Amino acid sequence: MAIRNLRYQGDEILKKKSREVEQIDDKLQELIDDMIDTMHKYNGVGLAAVQVGVLKRVVVIDLYDDNGPIVMINPVIIKTKGEQEVEEGCLSFPNEFAKVVRPAEVVAEYTDREGNTIRVKAKELLAQAISHELDHLEGELFIDKIIPGTLEYVEPEK
Ligand code: NI
Repeated sequence: MAIRNLRYQGDEILKKKSREVEQIDDKLQELIDDMIDTMHKYNGVGLAAVQVGVLKRVVVIDLYDDNGPIVMINPVIIKTKGEQEVEEGCLSFPNEFAKVVRPAEVVAEYTDREGNTIRVKAKELLAQAISHELDHLEGELFIDKIIPGTLEYVEPEK
């Protein structure tokens, strides 16, 4: 397990579309472990593989609750319902926060790291996180969908 280097705002890779995972092998398991470590190191609630420079459709999410880290391989959103206006940030934009509109609920389907197909119905923060992270897989960034006038810069902690 290792901390990987994050890709930051301005890095062209963040605008690229990630590719489907075809095989869950040792290399992918290592990537997943490293993504979880990297997300935890920077206190993130989610991380997409592209943010560590790997264009694969892999996402990790951790709301720091009883569910532990959720690993989503080739996730797709099947259904959304309603809207929520939420405060949002991104590990690739360490000092920037803004309001965005996300679905209030999402139903998503994905493969877990053991190869099982999982369907999840999410709301509130989990729905927001799934929507944000799946955008990364399409090369879409939260900064391009913020509610105008809500962007805030926060000084990094030393
Ligand atoms: Ni992000």
